[in-house]
Amino acid sequence: MTEAEAQKEILTLTDELNHHNYLYYVKAHPVISDYDFDQLLNKLKKLEEQFPKFASPNSPTKRVGGDITKNFATVKHKYPMLSLDNSYSKEDIIDWETRLKKMTDGDIEYVCELKYDGVAIGITYINGEMARAVTRGDGEEGEDITPNVRTIKTVPLKLTGTGYPQEFEIRGEIILPRASFDKMNAEREAAGEPLYANPRNTAAGTLKQQDSSKVASRGLDSFLYGFYSEKVPFKSHYESVIACGGWGFKIPDEKKKYITKCKSIDEIIDFINYWDEERRKLGFEIDGIVIKVNSYLQQQDLGFTSKSPRWAIAYKFKAETVSTLVESIAYQVGRTGAITPVANLKPVLLAGTTVKRASLHNADQIEKLDIRVGDTVFVEKGGEIIPKVVGVDVSKRPSTSVKHIYIEVCPECGTGLIRKEGEAVHYCPNEWGCAVQLKGKIAHFTSRRAMDIEGLGEETVEQLFDAGLIKTYADIYDLKKEQLLPLERMAEKSVNNLLAGIEKSKQVPFESVLFAIGIRYVGETVAKKLARHFKTIDAIKAASFETLCEADEIGDKIAQSIVAFFAQPDQVALVDRLKAAGLQMEAVIEQNLSDKLKGLTLVVSGTFANFSRDGIKESIEKNGGKVASSISKKTNYVLAGADMGPSKLQKATDLGVKIISEQEYIEMIG
Ligand code: IVH
Repeated sequence: MTEAEAQKEILTLTDELNHHNYLYYVKAHPVISDYDFDQLLNKLKKLEEQFPKFASPNSPTKRVGGDITKNFATVKHKYPMLSLDNSYSKEDIIDWETRLKKMTDGDIEYVCELKYDGVAIGITYINGEMARAVTRGDGEEGEDITPNVRTIKTVPLKLTGTGYPQEFEIRGEIILPRASFDKMNAEREAAGEPLYANPRNTAAGTLKQQDSSKVASRGLDSFLYGFYSEKVPFKSHYESVIACGGWGFKIPDEKKKYITKCKSIDEIIDFINYWDEERRKLGFEIDGIVIKVNSYLQQQDLGFTSKSPRWAIAYKFKAETVSTLVESIAYQVGRTGAITPVANLKPVLLAGTTVKRASLHNADQIEKLDIRVGDTVFVEKGGEIIPKVVGVDVSKRPSTSVKHIYIEVCPECGTGLIRKEGEAVHYCPNEWGCAVQLKGKIAHFTSRRAMDIEGLGEETVEQLFDAGLIKTYADIYDLKKEQLLPLERMAEKSVNNLLAGIEKSKQVPFESVLFAIGIRYVGETVAKKLARHFKTIDAIKAASFETLCEADEIGDKIAQSIVAFFAQPDQVALVDRLKAAGLQMEAVIEQNLSDKLKGLTLVVSGTFANFSRDGIKESIEKNGGKVASSISKKTNYVLAGADMGPSKLQKATDLGVKIISEQEYIEMIG
């Protein structure tokens, strides 16, 4: 292929891929299969490699990330990023509208939109291509996070259509959909890590990741709501939104009522009332409604105050708040030793439920709000699941009140607490001696996703622990009928059921056992990977840090934690007892389908049309091959799916390792 041909082909493929990406993510209406999309993407990747000078920073191949930014550059905004005036009552909105009418000639048309609860972003396009994406910062200057924003699939890298100015900026909000947020937290919970507080903060944290491929994996989304350029080719805000839709941006859906033109205050109030109810059903969070004057001419007339436009206002939904008394402050110790301060409250009704307790988060939060026992506090149920204390009504503070002093030792076992550098949470380091942590670990062991022992829920674990019958999870398998019968709520039948449940758990597969023993950072997914790679508990125990890191998706932090776990004789003794009791300590090796890949080592990268990522690895192993996580001279093939990481591609090329497609792989195994 000549250079000219390659350049042309790269451009064609880029347009084609951008179009399909748009249909898939923005329109939710794909017209080709994922497989065909991946084929096109691979073709483009290969061409870009062969002809790197034609590889654009806005290539669809950049959607998967890979660029690392150590320090985000500070950029001055061309148009200051102002904020909106907030109002919390409909009266405020009515007043605002009345004021506007007095200040403006003629009728006013309004546009009502959702107030997306995410992170504000300004994206500059030059000659139809994304040039820069900058955070709000202090409104005057923000941080350049372009490589991270490129990975957000609903943000176009290259515009379609015509009529856009040579240079313009589009403003909007980057959000983390609830489903992506819940998924991340489920993974953290399973790994015993503290949960993220809400989607907004998590989106903000994600956008600041140095490694853009991490950003790509998180499922961020965007909504765009403002157009800025030197010569604006529109007469109204609404017109600009529609035009942006035509250029490939994700704009609010009018049919879903995400945006509506209103002619009167009544229509505005209807819009507010509708979303105050319906917002809970959205797949993402909004914290209010934004009302804007539609006509740009009228906007100009109205102008700005020092910090916000007069032509727009935000109506913020009330997070329901009540005030009540802090009766005491208690501390909870989690399974991993994390300490959570909790306010015991005088019971109060909030958003339909009686609230007796609220999280105080950590020592910093108590200090910041100066929360004391005996205070009357404001409790709010916002985006978070657990109600939180948001402020103190100092006017009601008793004269005898004293500052609350955060505990220094574990309330359960008296061990001195520690606080790791850069973390807000205190920990009890007495991991294997602190009763609450032990009970928590046993309850984790018996839980449904781990050993799934029926009849051994949290309460029963507590009962058996307090009765001195179990001190560790291994003791479960020594329980005798005659020990259990004398206990409360333990009739013959329930004892029989419990013992049967324990017996049955001996058949639970090895990967679940591995998850159950509660090695820090070994969640369900990691346990599966370890089981598949190492096959037996003995192999994992014997593995060095380096050997562990060789396994698929096992990083330094996890490897270190596993090594530390098996370096403790007490832990090893417990695991040995489980083994002696007859638990599954080896992965069941299924009969191989063929020997076609015997002696071959493959590295898998990207996503596939006919297999899940785990599925394709399983398929390699079932055909006699070995899966490695990183490319080396020993690698025979790199099996490349869509979104193959650019660093892997480079390495494979450098080492001369053959890259095969999914189709070639399928042909190989027949
Ligand atoms: S318009 C001059 N529209 O709310 C400001 N903002 O304080 C024009 N936001 O920082 C902003 N949804 O990040 C506008 N539909 C929407 C919005 C929205 C969320 C955010 C934005 C801004 C903050 C206002």
